[in-house]
Amino acid sequence: MLRFLTAGESHGPELVAIIEGVPAGFEIDLAQINHQLARRQKGYGRGGRMLIERDEVRPVSGIRFGRTMGSPITFVIQNRDFANWEKRMSADPKDRTEAKLVTRPRPGHADLAGALKYNLDDMRDVLERASARETTARVAVGALAKQLLTPFGIESLGYVIQIGANRAELPVSIPLAELSELTEKSQVRVADAAAERAIIAEIDECKQSGDTLGGIVEVSVAGLPVGLGSHVQWDRKLDGRLAHALLSLQAAKGVEFGMGFAAGTVRGSQLHDEIGYDAAGLRFTRHSNNSGGTEGGMTTGEPLRVRVAFKPLSTLMRPLRSVDIRTKSEAVGTIERSDVCAVPAAAVIAEAVVAFEIATAFLEKFGGDSLAEVSRNYQGYLEQVRRY
Ligand SMILES: Cc1cc2nc3c(=O)[nH]c(=O)nc-3n(C[C@H](O)[C@H](O)[C@H](O)COP(=O)(O)O)c2cc1C
Repeated sequence: MLRFLTAGESHGPELVAIIEGVPAGFEIDLAQINHQLARRQKGYGRGGRMLIERDEVRPVSGIRFGRTMGSPITFVIQNRDFANWEKRMSADPKDRTEAKLVTRPRPGHADLAGALKYNLDDMRDVLERASARETTARVAVGALAKQLLTPFGIESLGYVIQIGANRAELPVSIPLAELSELTEKSQVRVADAAAERAIIAEIDECKQSGDTLGGIVEVSVAGLPVGLGSHVQWDRKLDGRLAHALLSLQAAKGVEFGMGFAAGTVRGSQLHDEIGYDAAGLRFTRHSNNSGGTEGGMTTGEPLRVRVAFKPLSTLMRPLRSVDIRTKSEAVGTIERSDVCAVPAAAVIAEAVVAFEIATAFLEKFGGDSLAEVSRNYQGYLEQVRRY
């Protein structure tokens, strides 16, 4: 079973990810992993932190001469900003006097619920781990997962379809590689120049007024076989697992597949993807993909299409009303260095967590201890489906 854990605080010395269950023999390109980390750092609307960091993984275990060994893989990522926080984030009790307590919870952040739940008097102990800095580790894990899927022709891409009220008009059904070219060029990962201009103007406006912006990202996955995930048990349904992974992202508020919530507003005849058969290609086909690529918790073999809505960030430079947890008197939320809009980065992060869930389902179905064994299992299954 493929699984991972991350550890590390936002301003601590390092982030760590341990990934277990990776078979031996997969080629791993660390430069590609670092490329994904760099994609996460980009995007118009990010704050000053991203100018400090230059994220890179340091592989500590599980990879030798560019190949997985079958043992747990560990990545460590340095927080360069720790140099500015050494005393305030120290593990040494002597340094506690250096700490300025965070006592004014930000509405919308984890501050208040976390402080009450963990019985803490300094909300920094909450916000350091609640912070989306943690997603750096998840992007490293997802980048590894993408490379596990590469030999099987499975590719994923995350991009932005809306920021604030500005919706992108996406080109209809273009291949992922072309969409990737367009969105990588965009400062906000949007494949629509007019929407990009409007988004940048709105981000500028929010920066001026001390406000923040959310949006919607989409992740597409191409090259999937039919039958990843399963209908037989609730926790094996792939759409459910994807929704869990995506909703676990900081600031994520909703997930929808294919036609999404609009599916509840149309008739069955307008929604369901009619079935055909391609006799030459020995495969079943669909006349549409409104399901977003899953039925019964399994991939249909059509591209996966899932969207995630992210709320506007909760650190406002013009802070909202709050209460000081020490005095219980009226106050305004704490101001931390913060992004105005992190939706372009969220698209890269969503892509990473989707890739991990797909790789998990893939290895569950075709799993083995080596690339050769997984490939044999996969080819055997494809042949079975062709002969069906
Ligand atoms: C890429 C990314 C960057 C974020 N940056 C910030 C930020 O700079 N300031 C902030 O207040 N929240 C930021 N967040 C959101 C908070 O981490 C999140 O709202 C908080 O942990 C509370 O969790 P919840 O929104 O999921 O309830 C970011 C989220 C993402 C996905």
